[in-house]
Amino acid sequence: VKLLLVEGYQEMSKVAAQLFAQEVKRKPDLVLGLATGGTPVGMYEELIRMHRTEGLSFSQATSFNLDEYVGLDAQHPQSYRTYMQEHLFAQIDMAAERTNIPRGDAQDLEQECARYEQAIAEAGGIDIQVLGIGTNGHIGFNEPGSSASSKTRVVQLTPSTIEANARFFESVEEVPTQAVSMGIATILGAKKIVLLASGEAKAQAVRDMLEGEMTPDVPASLLQMHDDVTVIVDAPAASLLS
Ligand code: F6R
Repeated sequence: VKLLLVEGYQEMSKVAAQLFAQEVKRKPDLVLGLATGGTPVGMYEELIRMHRTEGLSFSQATSFNLDEYVGLDAQHPQSYRTYMQEHLFAQIDMAAERTNIPRGDAQDLEQECARYEQAIAEAGGIDIQVLGIGTNGHIGFNEPGSSASSKTRVVQLTPSTIEANARFFESVEEVPTQAVSMGIATILGAKKIVLLASGEAKAQAVRDMLEGEMTPDVPASLLQMHDDVTVIVDAPAASLLS
């Protein structure tokens, strides 16, 4: 794991966007692995700025998002599809038909998971995957206990994750309790992984990920078995590192 220590959220976002832009320039028809949540918003803003002012083009790129809430249709204001449209897709030149997010409203969720996993394989696999980290060490919605061999599947969200995500909803009762998420094995299949962590609330998870043993109890620690992981951590999130 390559660790990049930065000052704060802004710098983390800029450094991450640089890594992504570099890959897009090197391979314009690459496959991007994308995340939602608060963490990557600044990185997406920076990529949008590069698109507008530096001509960075995503016109040949394909993308796959990590996860989606079960039960929310694509148009729901809190769906991850809506999030991606607002924070990235509507503001760059990605082809809509090459942006992939699991369908949380699929009739047959198991089939949807298998379809998603296969679509990633057919696209040639993910070239570069961005990840955030949960306060409990989750990546994607792979909560503690997720096995290293897990693939895209329906997962149960833990009370702490539901609580953490309630800030995006009117009330905690409205937060879905399940999601479709890429598995740990799906994520480890990406050629390059960039994990971002900002803020004191992530400090313990960052420490467990980097300095603890590799264990499904801290899903992010399983990234230690991948040979091309860059972790970009700001000062508050790095505060418990030895
Ligand atoms: C998002 C995702 C989650 C988040 C994590 C951190 O697609 O899969 O793992 O990255 O919950 O969320 P934030 O960035 O809101 O702190």
